[in-house]
Amino acid sequence: MRASIQSVVLPVAGLGTRFLPATKAIPKEMLPVLDKPLIQLAVEEAHKAGIKQVVLVTSASKRAIEDHFDVNFELEATLEQRGKLAMLDAVKTTLPNGMTLAVVRQPKALGLGHAVLCAQPIVGNQPFAVMLPDDFIDDTQGGCLADMVALYNQEQAYSLAVEEVPRDKTDKYGVVSLNEEGRIVAMVEKPKPEVAPSTLAVVGRYVLPGAIFEALTEVKPGAGGEIQLTDGIASLLASEHFRPHRFKGVRYDCGSKLGYLQANVALGLRDTEVGQSFAAWLKTQ
Ligand code: UTP
Repeated sequence: MRASIQSVVLPVAGLGTRFLPATKAIPKEMLPVLDKPLIQLAVEEAHKAGIKQVVLVTSASKRAIEDHFDVNFELEATLEQRGKLAMLDAVKTTLPNGMTLAVVRQPKALGLGHAVLCAQPIVGNQPFAVMLPDDFIDDTQGGCLADMVALYNQEQAYSLAVEEVPRDKTDKYGVVSLNEEGRIVAMVEKPKPEVAPSTLAVVGRYVLPGAIFEALTEVKPGAGGEIQLTDGIASLLASEHFRPHRFKGVRYDCGSKLGYLQANVALGLRDTEVGQSFAAWLKTQ
């Protein structure tokens, strides 16, 4: 029996340039979808997957993320005094009960692969999950990561969440190719449409073996001097079984303006407090 998945790594040390100037002083991961920041939606999905430890890989300008999961005595005391108990509970459980949070710094934005490697001293050489919080996966039934952890528990399979994308968009994603058994046999980062091995794109959820750390230390920096997670995974495909996970629900790329707006509209329309009036207003636009 292999070790279970205990940790999720959340790399949040990127610069978030697509959302400037909003992300000049506020981390991209703190942008809210309705009333919860992206980072909290990711942590809640990890909680549903039974994950116990959250490992944030942050940079100097991301203190707000740590604070979001920490105790805020003054705010809690005020809410208690005013009898705002539902809000008090919401503030106290930003980190769900039973979860712990560890923080490591990525000293320089040297790429996603490098960010994941920074988590090695905390994760150890155990299998673990990685989530990119700006890929918000809205699955009202279960959760993408919960399904991937279940796949690992049942079949000992590592996996990457994937979805079909239009061929003219392959250069925005890591793209995989599969063999007849459905195993991932190749993965390339941002291929041009004419050379992409398929249109099956990897999105921000991964269940990885501890061996990825060793693999990442071998990866040479690619374009822009970045160490790509894709290259680390690609080097393991011959020795480890990786499966594509076609997730349920809808993925919103909240690192882009369009995806971020769509996620807010989707959750806004379902909101018990403002959903109906929001829908009525939307019809008038
Ligand atoms: P992105 O490619 O979305 O980059 O990174 P970014 O800097 O966050 O955003 P843009 O493109 O400039 O707007 C994918 C994920 O990898 C993390 C990011 O924080 C994001 O979660 N990352 C990227 C790091 O943690 N470190 C890096 O060096 C690069």
